[in-house]
Amino acid sequence: MEVIIQPNPEAASRLGARYIARLLREKPHAVLGLATGSTPLKLYAELIRLHREEGLDFSRATTFNLDEYLDLPRDHAATYRRFMEENLFRHVNLRPERTFIPQSDLPGEKVAAYCEAYEEEIRRAGGIDLQILGIGGDGHIGFNEPSSSLASRTRIKTLTARTRSDNAPFFASPAEVPHHVITMGIGTILEAREVLLFAFGAGKADAIAASIEGPLTSFVPASSLQLHRRARFLLDEAAAAKLTRQDYYRWVFDQKPLWQNP
Ligand code: PGA
Repeated sequence: MEVIIQPNPEAASRLGARYIARLLREKPHAVLGLATGSTPLKLYAELIRLHREEGLDFSRATTFNLDEYLDLPRDHAATYRRFMEENLFRHVNLRPERTFIPQSDLPGEKVAAYCEAYEEEIRRAGGIDLQILGIGGDGHIGFNEPSSSLASRTRIKTLTARTRSDNAPFFASPAEVPHHVITMGIGTILEAREVLLFAFGAGKADAIAASIEGPLTSFVPASSLQLHRRARFLLDEAAAAKLTRQDYYRWVFDQKPLWQNP
């Protein structure tokens, strides 16, 4: 794992965008795994800037989002499809038919087959080259809540009370937050060739310390990234504050050979 501590979310997001831009320049038909939430907003803003000002080209790329609510009409303002349209898709030159996000209004009896088809679509696209992740205060990635199987695949999950309340601001009332979601599994995420996990703010410090320096456990889903060969954590100072080896991580980053930098 590579732990990169930056002075603030802006700097971490700019650096993250450079990793993605490097991938797209080396492999224009790259497959990106995308995340929603407040954390990647600055990253997406920087990718949009790179597209507008430096010609970063998304025209041959494919994207798969991690997750989506269930039991929400497709045109609901809180769907992750809407989030992605507003915060990235409509501002860059991705082909709409190459942006995959689980469907929010599936009837219950269709969910299992739909999840299998989503996995199949990822395989058909050649697998995910780079997966962007945020992290929940409880260590969840995607909507893989604590106790999710480390081998899990795309499936229906039930949100914890904490996640429902964290996400309530995006709904008219807390009661409106769906109980169920579709999420890529931890096994799905671990198959991405490269992972960039972003975490900002003191509210993420415990989850980050547990994920990076704690034991591998399904109770902290992001600790599963200890098994990944190319996982980078991009943190601001506040999210990194509870790591015991901060000095070492900073030293490693400062010693990086120039050719490794994006
Ligand atoms: P956030 O959510 O980016 O809004 O903090 C992250 C998550 O719950 O995965």
